Amino acid sequence: MSPATEIEAGVEPLTMRRTMGRFATGVAVVTTEVDGEPHGMTVNSLTSVSLDPPMLLVCLTTGARTTEAVTAAGRFAVSILSARQEQIALRFARRGENHFEGLPLIYGDHSIPVVPDALAHVECTVDRQLVAGDHLVVFGAVQRVCDRDGEPLAFAGGRFADVAVRGHEPVHWIF
Ligand SMILES: Cc1cc2nc3c(=O)[nH]c(=O)nc-3n(C[C@H](O)[C@H](O)[C@H](O)COP(=O)(O)O)c2cc1C
Repeated sequence: MSPATEIEAGVEPLTMRRTMGRFATGVAVVTTEVDGEPHGMTVNSLTSVSLDPPMLLVCLTTGARTTEAVTAAGRFAVSILSARQEQIALRFARRGENHFEGLPLIYGDHSIPVVPDALAHVECTVDRQLVAGDHLVVFGAVQRVCDRDGEPLAFAGGRFADVAVRGHEPVHWIF
């Protein structure tokens, strides 16, 4: 293992991004709709918060159109991307573009557009939100979920990646 980069005291945004990029995540798209117009953005800040009641959170940059739309709509969906959906992740990460152009839309029960062929769809109402630095932490009360088997898209070290599943049995929760 190579030695750790020297620990920095006054942490710059790019250093923060690089460091937290060591933490591998999945990739998802947050979507919502306001006045009939769909909005969506790629995220990797998705975290499960509570099982009972079911809640999750996403951290959305305060500058993004989708962040304002989620606040305005009071509801959103999360589509967890499969390993085949790197292009979808890139599409929904490009600022200022119409992310939905040419994309067939499907709608969940709560009239929110979701990404077709994702590994999971999670539909939420906004439970609460708080400003934290340059992001808005949005807690979603989960209303409906669906999921299917498949390989997830991963993100680590600033790159998309595949998950290499180890050979042993799934870990059944011990807590
Ligand atoms: C893999 C990946 C993960 C991202 N995760 C987040 C995130 O968790 N929160 C966030 O605010 N932006 C994240 N972004 C950046 C947004 O996707 C990007 O700013 C997007 O263009 C905002 O869309 P909008 O301004 O059109 O709404 C991520 C981008 C990529 C490629």
